[in-house]
Order: sequence, then structure tokens, then C-alpha cells
Amino acid sequence: MSESTRKTGTSLLRWACVPHALVLYLSILSVLFNSCDTVDRSKFRTCDQSGFCKRQRAVKEGYSKYKVDLSNGQVSSDKVTFSVVNPDGGHKYILQIIAYDGVFRVKFNEESPLHPRYEVEHALLPDLKTTSMQVSKGSDSWTLTIGENAVAQVFGDPLRVDLFSQGKKVAVFNGRSTLKFEHLRQKPDVNEEPKEADDSENDVVESSMWEESFGGNTDSKPRGPESIAADIDFPLTQSLYGLPEHADTFMLKDTTNSDPVRLYNLDVFEYELDNVMALYGAIPYVIAHSPEATVGVLWLNAAETWVDVGVSKGGLVDSIVNLVGGSEENKEGRTRWMSESGIIDTFFFMGPKPADVIRQYGKLTGTTPLPQMWAIGSHQCRWNYNDEDDLLSVDANFDKYDIPYDSIWLDIEYTDGKKYFTWDHHKFPHPVEMINNISSKGRKLVTILDPHIKRESGYFLHEDATNQDLYVKDKNGKIYEGWCWPGSSSYLDFFDPKVRQYWASLFALDKFPSTLDTYIWNDMNEPSVFNGPEVTMPKDMMHYGNWEHRDVHNLYGLMHIMSTFEGLLQRSENRLRPFILTRSHYVGAQRYAAVWTGDNKADWGHLKISIPMCLSLSISGMSHCGADIGGFFHNPDAELMLRWYQTAAFQPFMRNHAHIETKRREPWLFGDQITSMIRSVVRKRYALLPYWYTLFYENEKTGMPPMRPLWLQYPDDVNTFPIQDQYLIGKCF
Ligand SMILES: *[C@@H]1O[C@H](CO)[C@@H](O)[C@H](O)[C@H]1NC(C)=O
Repeated sequence: MSESTRKTGTSLLRWACVPHALVLYLSILSVLFNSCDTVDRSKFRTCDQSGFCKRQRAVKEGYSKYKVDLSNGQVSSDKVTFSVVNPDGGHKYILQIIAYDGVFRVKFNEESPLHPRYEVEHALLPDLKTTSMQVSKGSDSWTLTIGENAVAQVFGDPLRVDLFSQGKKVAVFNGRSTLKFEHLRQKPDVNEEPKEADDSENDVVESSMWEESFGGNTDSKPRGPESIAADIDFPLTQSLYGLPEHADTFMLKDTTNSDPVRLYNLDVFEYELDNVMALYGAIPYVIAHSPEATVGVLWLNAAETWVDVGVSKGGLVDSIVNLVGGSEENKEGRTRWMSESGIIDTFFFMGPKPADVIRQYGKLTGTTPLPQMWAIGSHQCRWNYNDEDDLLSVDANFDKYDIPYDSIWLDIEYTDGKKYFTWDHHKFPHPVEMINNISSKGRKLVTILDPHIKRESGYFLHEDATNQDLYVKDKNGKIYEGWCWPGSSSYLDFFDPKVRQYWASLFALDKFPSTLDTYIWNDMNEPSVFNGPEVTMPKDMMHYGNWEHRDVHNLYGLMHIMSTFEGLLQRSENRLRPFILTRSHYVGAQRYAAVWTGDNKADWGHLKISIPMCLSLSISGMSHCGADIGGFFHNPDAELMLRWYQTAAFQPFMRNHAHIETKRREPWLFGDQITSMIRSVVRKRYALLPYWYTLFYENEKTGMPPMRPLWLQYPDDVNTFPIQDQYLIGKCF
């Protein structure tokens, strides 16, 4: 970025510190109604319908007896390693505490599992720098200190880790002794009499442990039960945030009388508002905030995960009253995390202030590289712009109506029969000339590229993938076939470096007819499988490295966008910044892509929820966030369209997009008055672009998101904690 741009941005920061009508728009939205329910719930599991979630949720406080051998901890400068035994049955585990700058990592795994258990790759930055700890050994506990103010106290019997920031206890790991680690085991012989349970982890014996059916699909579970869970509590506060992606409140709600919050990347048709059902992305990360201290917790696990949230004692209102009144009661927020496989690997970002937590999280998981100025402008999309003439006339109308915009998008219909990296040569006979026509005005084209590949002989990508062994397979080594947009499809295994390299090579301009002004939209990457269990890939499919889909599910989209990012870099010989929009996301996805909230709906409730959804994503790293303007499904009326533009103009990612069965909704189609009001707010957006650009620069450097909850800026003001219909753009706008 040039020096002059930077200066403009800085001066904007100064003049922008005035109250603005934005807050007013948003307050109006907050009183409007939510939509009615439309999602087909029977397609998606509840906790009760998920074997491991049901087993883990039944665990009572005081259940686990894991004992840490404090007499024999192995100390190196940045790491302490203990052996742990479960006295019920004697199974052995390893507990490790690792130090990074301002961060404790608590890892717990079997000492010698029957086969390796998956540890998440690619989410964290490579080559993380650890830091040294001071270690003080006691007989009941060890005390580990990073710097001056971050302390972890490890208790032996039962296992517990207390975390202190500036002398205050901010988090407790396994304080309620609900840690339950299902160690790997041989499948019992069905002819044998059921044995006495030989340890506490076998005390619930259920058929779902070795095979499980749901909605006509059977999960063969060849490795049996292997779930993990632990409680992590926050003694200072019930103000918990995070765990995107959900169409729910910004501040996490109590789940005692509902399902736990579910993290399992899914393509949910017509999703509902105000509930904890899974959506397209999963970031297992919580920030617990109070005026006294702020702490973040990352549960680094890519398998299906459910999180129980306990903020019930007195509830939100009471807890604020108590905070105001200085009462010590009812302050503790509780969480319990349950994952289907993998290991327990948690990170405690010790703060003490919200900005510190944000920075610490960014240092481990990366930040969003500064987007191009055009990428933070206004985007125009539709499923679909039909052909070259259609696209050019929409483009020309933006000029005619004098509404600024920076990119036009093509959804799946531009391809030849949903075969990605091809063009429909009847509708788009001159793609390169068409793109050049657009980019001669300084605009870009964004085309969609999904991870499912049409199984059609003669299609080069399918032929290559078959011949070069690039597809996900089933457990017998047969290529997996599912159903998606093109019909019968197979799925590239982006976990294989060879596949990532292959995919990246396809962006070369002599392979994909396009130009350097063509950027990419990666959709359907949960992955979406229309005929799969819960509209996704069966858990017993196999990926590179002999991992089951079960272990890596939530990472699939990240691997997809990583490959696309590499392709866009290679295409320009590392000269040009990539731009990618993704639907699926996981920890670290912010390093590669912007995100939108998926297939929302043309109603006021969906407009309103775009704010808490993007706030939640913003504090969890995914800072370049937006929602489809107008709502993807159904038709917005003129007022909704206008209000949506007025809202989206003040969100980080701004795109008008619609379903193929909706009426056209380009901004000049709602009457002159609406057109002029949309023009005016889009111009406001453009007037502020240098400010947004500067904020994104700050975001890259510090992790601080451009779209900020009020408490991020005013951490001591408890009145701001539940607010989700107002936010700040930067410090004070
Ligand atoms: C590009 O623009 C020129 C000049 O307006 C026009 O004649 C031509 O048809 C356009 N081509 C495509 C493929 O859009």
C-alpha cells in the first residue's frame, strides 16, 4: 500500500470519530420480526441422534479420575510433559503444556494409542515460535509462568489446570472433572459375553459405538468409539462469544435446555434463525470477556464438535446487574466441548485485554492479508448472469445509473455442464474478450469453482483425477461418488499435497480461459453432497494420510481455498494478491478468503442476523465477512432491498446475490427513489473505502477486525456486552 493511501486512512480515522446514523439504521432493524421456520430438521442430527454426543453429554460432574504424575514431569524450556493415568482401568495418557507468547497450549492424548489419532494440520501458521516458561514444582501442583502475568497451575489428583491472568483466575480446564477420553480399542467379539467394564470409559456400552445409522445412511465406524470431551470454565464471566458459524445471538446463550452448539460444516437449505444448528463453517473458539480480564480458548479439533454453554445461573441480565453491583455471585460461565475423534488440544489466549487476545489468536492462526481496494467495494452477483450480453448490459447499467461497483460474478451456469474450469461456449463464446471489456473499466470478474467434479468421461479434470489418483475414496479404496450440481460427482482430496498442486496448476491462463482480472468463489466446500448423510460426505470415507473423513471434516473447505490461493499466486508468479470468497471455513481460513453467511433469505430477520453473524466471525479471525444483499432465497420488496444495501454498505464484504428462481434485483429495479437512495449509500461506502482499507491493513498487522463489537473498544462498559444491533467500524465510527 502506498504511503499516500496510508495517510488518507489515518486522517479518516481521526475525522470519523463522530456518532453516525448507522447506529440508527441498526436499531430500527432490531425491533423487526424474525422469519418463520423452514429448514428440514429431520435431515440433521440432534445431539441425541449422534452416538458420541449422547454418550458425552451424559457424563456427570466429578466423573473423571485422571491422575497426573507430578513427581515425574519432563521439563524443557517451552514445554512440560506429564504422564497421566486413569485409575479406572489403568489406561495411560500424556498431558503437555506448551508456551507461546501470551498463550498456553494444553494437549492431552493417549500415551500409545492403538493407531495414531488425528492432530489438526494447516489451521495454525507453520513454524510457530514457542516461548520459555518458568516452572515451579510442588507436590500437589506445578506452576508454570509465561512472562510476568500468565500463569498455569497444574493439579495432579484429579487432573485440573487453572489459568491466571494478572493474578486473576480466568479459566479452568477440567475443573468439573468431566474430561472423558475414549481410548482406542479392539472391536469386541460379538459372540463373547459382554465383559465387566474394565474402565470408566467403557461404562456406557452402546450399539452406536461401532456402527451408526441416520437418515438411511450407515456409518461403519471401523475404529469404534474415540470421542473426547472436557470442560473449560470461566470464573469471571458469563459473557461468552464466538463458536461461529450460527444464525444466532452474538453473545452465546445457555444450552442447558437446548442442543449444545454444533460445529460441523454443513450445507443447510433455508437455515433457521436463533438456533445452534450447524451451518457452513466451524470455528471452535470462544472469547470470555469481563471488565476484569479477557481470555480466548481455541479447541483445535476438526471432527464433529458440540459445545455446551452454561451461563444459566441468573442469566445474562442478572449477571450484568451483579457485575454492576460488584457481586461475586453467578459470574462463572461454563463450557464443555465434545468432539467425535482426534485429541484434546486447547489454546488459552491469556489477554489480558480483548485486543491482546485478538492479537495472540492472530499470531497463531494468521490474519487476512490486505484485500485489494476493489475487493472491499461493492460486488454484483446472481445465479446466474445468463450470457455475455446479459453480463455486459448489467455492467453498462451500473454506469448508466451511476452506481459504483467493482466486480461482477458468475455462478455455476457459466460452465459447460457444471464442469469447472470450462466455459459454456454458447452463452459465453468469448470469455477473455468479455473479461477484458469489464476490466478495461477497472472492474473484475469473479467465477465460481466448486470442489465436486463431474464424473463424465472425456472431461479432462475427471480423467486426470481418475488417472492420477486425486479423488477421495471409500474405506475399500473405491472412488467415492456423490451427487451434486453436475449430477454424479467425485470429490478432490485436497488433503493430498499432490492434489493441491494439481488444482493450483489449473489456474494457469493457458489452462482456464480467463485473465489476471478473474478471481474466484469457492462454494459447496463443506463439502456439500446432496445425497450424503446430512448433505455431506460420509464419515468413513478416506483421505490422504489414511485419515477418515470423520477426523478432518471441518477442514475440507480450508484445504480447498488453500489450493485455490496457491493457484492464484502461481498464476501471476506471486505478483498479485489473490481474492477468494468461501462458504465453508475453519480456523485459519482468514489467511486465504473472505466469507459470506451462505444461503440466507429475503426477510427482515435474516437482515438483522447478518450483524451478530459477522461480529462472531470477525472476532474469530474471519474479518472479511458479509451477507447476500436482499437475501439469497425469495424476493425482497423495495424497502427491504434498500435497508439491506444501507446495512451491507457498512459491513466488510458487500455483495448483491440471488437464487436462480428469484426476480432480478439489480439496484435500479426498485423505482427511481430507491435507486437514488441505494446510489447514495453505495457512494458513502466508496467515500469510506480508504478508511476500510486502512482498517484491513491494521487487521493484517494486529488481527483487530474492521467490524467490531462495542466491547472490543469499550471493554469496561458492561452495558455494551449484549449489544448486537450496533457495532463499530474501526475505533469509533
Ligand atoms: C467487448 O466490447 C466491444 C465494444 O463495446 C463489443 O463490441 C464486444 O462485443 C464486446 N465483447 C464481448 C465478448 O463482450
